[in-house]
Formats: sequence, C-alpha cells, structure tokens
Amino acid sequence: MDTNAPALMPILTVPDPVLKTRARRVEPADADAVRALIPRMFAAMYAAPGIGLAAPQVGVRLRLTVIDLMPDDKPAPLVLVNPEVIAASDELATREEGCLSLPGQYADVTRPARVTVRYHDAAGARQELSAEGLLSACLQHEIDHLDGVLFIDRISALKRNMILRRLAKEQRQQRERDGGR
Ligand code: NI
Repeated sequence: MDTNAPALMPILTVPDPVLKTRARRVEPADADAVRALIPRMFAAMYAAPGIGLAAPQVGVRLRLTVIDLMPDDKPAPLVLVNPEVIAASDELATREEGCLSLPGQYADVTRPARVTVRYHDAAGARQELSAEGLLSACLQHEIDHLDGVLFIDRISALKRNMILRRLAKEQRQQRERDGGR
C-alpha cells in the first residue's frame, strides 16, 4: 500500500443535496484547485469503478467532469472543463444508465442520439467533440450533473420513486450491516 497516496475522495450518493445544485463555471482563479482535483477524480472514478464522474459528485460545485470509457480495456481519459452541449440530434436513443451516486440502480434513459460538446481540456485549450452511442449518453449524463440533474430525473416518476425507495432500503441495510461503526 502506498502510504503517500492521498485518500480516495468519497463519492456522494442520493439524497445528498450537493447533487441537486447547479455548479458554477471554472474561472482562471480555479486553475490550481482544478489541477489538483483532476487526478483525484480519476482515482475515485477508476476505483469505483465507473466511466464518468462530475465534480459535484465529490462535493465540488464546479463545472468539471472526467470520463474514461476504457475502449479495448485501455485508458482514454477525457477531462471536460465548462462543457456545454452546443448541438443535439433530433433523433433519440435509449440506453441503460447507472450512476456512482445511485449505486446499484439502473434504468433506460432516452436522450438525443448525437451531441456536439464544447469544452476546455486540462491544458486550457478549447475543444469540440461530436459523439454518438455510449460516449454521447455519458457526456449528456455528466453535463446534467453540473446542473444538478440526475438520470432518474429523466425517467417516469413511477420508475424514479421505485429506484429511490430501493436505494434508501439498500442504504439502510448497509448502515445496519456497518452497525455502530
Ligand atoms: Ni452519474
């Protein structure tokens, strides 16, 4: 065990109120904080494991998200600072989504099939990315987090309430198993 490595950042879970708040834009004055945060966000995401993590999920209310779909099991880290969807297809696509803030919960979510996203990368360069398939859904899911929107906000109230009840029950059982610790 590497005792010099900083502790993993805990990932907030529903119903933490930070997950429902809108994050503010990253400004030049945030550069040092963001530089320090990015490797810690990747560490938390890979350890979970997950394919995307937004700063509010680790309690930081900044418009910053990291993604790695690990194509062919190889790392392909993507850092998006102040990402914005600038174009979305009329065509929709439905995929099953999950979220590290709703552990163990999944639902089919319908979103635009293709999006173009504008953002700044970790070096501060302006980038544009057009995506379809899993990456498109992942980009939209992570950008939603920056607006305090979760995937369960994009499904029916009936399905949302089922997931929230199931999650609350599992969290209660987990606390009972951890009893007193
Ligand atoms: Ni999520």
